[in-house]
Amino acid sequence: MTSFLLLNLKTGISLIETSNQSLALEGSSNTLSLENLPSGLLSAFQELDGSGKTSTQLSKIVRRFDGFQGIPTLYFYLAKLSRLGAIEYTLQADNTPIARLSVTSLTPPFEFQEVKVETYYVLSRFAFCRSDRGQTVLETPLSAARVSFFSWHGGAIVAELSQPKTVLELADRVPQLDEGTARHFLSLLLSAGAIVPTTAEVAQPADATEDLAVWEFHDLLFHTRSREGRQESTIGDPREFSRPVKPLPVVKPETFSEYIELCRPDIDQLKASDISLTQALETRRSIREHGDEPITVTQLGEFLYRVARLRSTFIREGNECSSRPYPSSAASYELELYPVINACQGIPSGLYHYCPQTHRLGKVRDRDRQVEELLVDAGRTNECRGKVPQILIVLAARYVRVARTYQGIAYAGILKDVGILYQTMYLVATSMNLAPCALGFGNSDRFSRAAGTDYYAETSVGEFMLGSR
Ligand SMILES: Cc1cc2nc3c(=O)[nH]c(=O)nc-3n(C[C@H](O)[C@H](O)[C@H](O)COP(=O)(O)O)c2cc1C
Repeated sequence: MTSFLLLNLKTGISLIETSNQSLALEGSSNTLSLENLPSGLLSAFQELDGSGKTSTQLSKIVRRFDGFQGIPTLYFYLAKLSRLGAIEYTLQADNTPIARLSVTSLTPPFEFQEVKVETYYVLSRFAFCRSDRGQTVLETPLSAARVSFFSWHGGAIVAELSQPKTVLELADRVPQLDEGTARHFLSLLLSAGAIVPTTAEVAQPADATEDLAVWEFHDLLFHTRSREGRQESTIGDPREFSRPVKPLPVVKPETFSEYIELCRPDIDQLKASDISLTQALETRRSIREHGDEPITVTQLGEFLYRVARLRSTFIREGNECSSRPYPSSAASYELELYPVINACQGIPSGLYHYCPQTHRLGKVRDRDRQVEELLVDAGRTNECRGKVPQILIVLAARYVRVARTYQGIAYAGILKDVGILYQTMYLVATSMNLAPCALGFGNSDRFSRAAGTDYYAETSVGEFMLGSR
């Protein structure tokens, strides 16, 4: 197997001739101009626009026209282009590409790294493989680079790297892989941050720093993918959904057979008589134990009206939006409130859905084993162990409402909306002298079963306990 590492400009990036003997980078948010290039360097860089050349081939071109003195300039600019993420590295074996390293974003600066032959390497706990637009790619949230696999070698190498290996050991283990190809392959993986140096005995070495050690793989991936920096596009493009997705109406249709009408407080009167914002902020506490007299249907009605009623609807950029007392990303108001009633004067125990446009509760189901499980789960999560709340309000997100606008950051937006709704609930409950407490987690599968929602269409993302003091 003869293998080479070919260098070429990333798709979408080119070096265009600006004036005589000068080139400028185009298609990248970074600027770089290479001025007054002797003819050898000019031809070498123009070769990067094609199907790729090895660095040795590029040096030969430079040497032929400019002599040896052109070589340092060639490597200086190659390193610069590489740091800017403008260069792709394709590993070609027996004239067939088997893997390619490309940089998906320009921050942080990219550094190509060669592996050391005597060092052991193992797959990073942050590395993951997935299929993306017909290619198998190996990525990690630690870097903005990824390796695409074009042959079975990638799968075999990744499987072997679950245990520490040197270049030679890897070449020994994977059929048809010689030392040179193994070395190039590992250099691609190391440059992408997908493997880490280790010793022969340690399959999961300690992370590079204490700060990194505390991150779970899924949290770091979620963070990097929902923030700008280590990826091409944060928001994404809804046109890239794998199938057409219809918009959802601004309010979930009311399809229940039984309703409980709720009372509406007089907002103008509350504006005059309510405690001040500072008073609410300063006296707000998480109260996890409820009074002997359960909360009433009147109080629940006032609470829901002040927190989450629909004030108006409007169209923005073709999307149906609404206005409610709390803010919401892109005015999408994807969060649905499901009161699970354990004890409330005037409402039979069971699971309900709050209808924000008509200000009433639609009955989802009577109290049964599935409702009981939601309440028991809340009791377990309550720091006052086992105390089941009078009311548990489950927040569920109609995912499409956000994803059609903010595809790549939909879930991050939803969690921010949950935080906002939690605080609105805390403040209203405080002003009403009720007992509020947010909960950190709940069982989304149980909720979907109980509420009869599709897990992917409308999934629970937050839980809040409410009761009398
Ligand atoms: C996002 C979030 C999740 C929480 N999760 C829980 C929980 O699972 N169980 C619980 O008893 N309290 C929970 N709490 C309440 C916090 O423990 C409480 O806010 C914190 O101790 C500060 O006390 P204070 O709210 O009385 O000021 C949560 C609060 C927030 C904002």
